[in-house]
Amino acid sequence: MEECQKLGLTKSIGVSNFSCKKLQTILSTAKIPPVVNQVEMNPMWQQKKLREFCQEKGIIITVYSPLGANGTVWGSDQVIECKLLKEIAQAKGKSVAQVCLRWAYEQGVCVLVKSFKEERMKENLDIFDFELSPEELHKISLLPQHKGYPALEFVSDDGPYKSLEELWDGEI
Ligand SMILES: NC(=O)c1ccc[n+]([C@@H]2O[C@H](COP(=O)([O-])OP(=O)(O)OC[C@H]3O[C@@H](n4cnc5c(N)ncnc54)[C@H](OP(=O)(O)O)[C@@H]3O)[C@@H](O)[C@H]2O)c1
Repeated sequence: MEECQKLGLTKSIGVSNFSCKKLQTILSTAKIPPVVNQVEMNPMWQQKKLREFCQEKGIIITVYSPLGANGTVWGSDQVIECKLLKEIAQAKGKSVAQVCLRWAYEQGVCVLVKSFKEERMKENLDIFDFELSPEELHKISLLPQHKGYPALEFVSDDGPYKSLEELWDGEI
């Protein structure tokens, strides 16, 4: 990728699903450091340690599965059905999806949300007319954490990662 950038084939280098440990490894040898790390993040998987690390190193976090990827084969409804998020959504007159997206926006990360439905695309953009209160943010920060997509299919006795521990460097 460094060669590609030198040849003008890409403007910048990004990585995905990198733990703090993998970022540290790449930063120790990279001549051109990655500018972005795309990772799973939502109120049920807040990535506090990784966000602090990336902020310190000047790496932008881009969030995938900000709604917990409900309705997909790799996701679940644990985020969209969260009782606390439902209560906050009701109090704000917003949907749980909008609360999740607003929360991510207020954390200062880039957000990748996906919908095939035009109405939901509009709903997902309509998050700039409200704010989460310090109390709501505090309650969200206390939610039990559980990574929605452990990516077990990348673990194999014949591959480079023989356990989830190795795949995520013990960071899940
Ligand atoms: N780098 C990686 O390893 C990685 C991994 C996973 C995903 N991604 C990327 O991240 C993008 C977004 O993540 P994601 O698709 O995993 O999860 P997501 O955006 O959290 O959730 C998408 C799911 O939520 C539904 N949805 C969208 N808006 C909604 C709303 N307002 N209310 C209720 N449900 C809503 C969608 O259904 P409808 O389409 O029917 O609306 C879809 O089933 C994907 O497009 C993918 O490219 C990257």
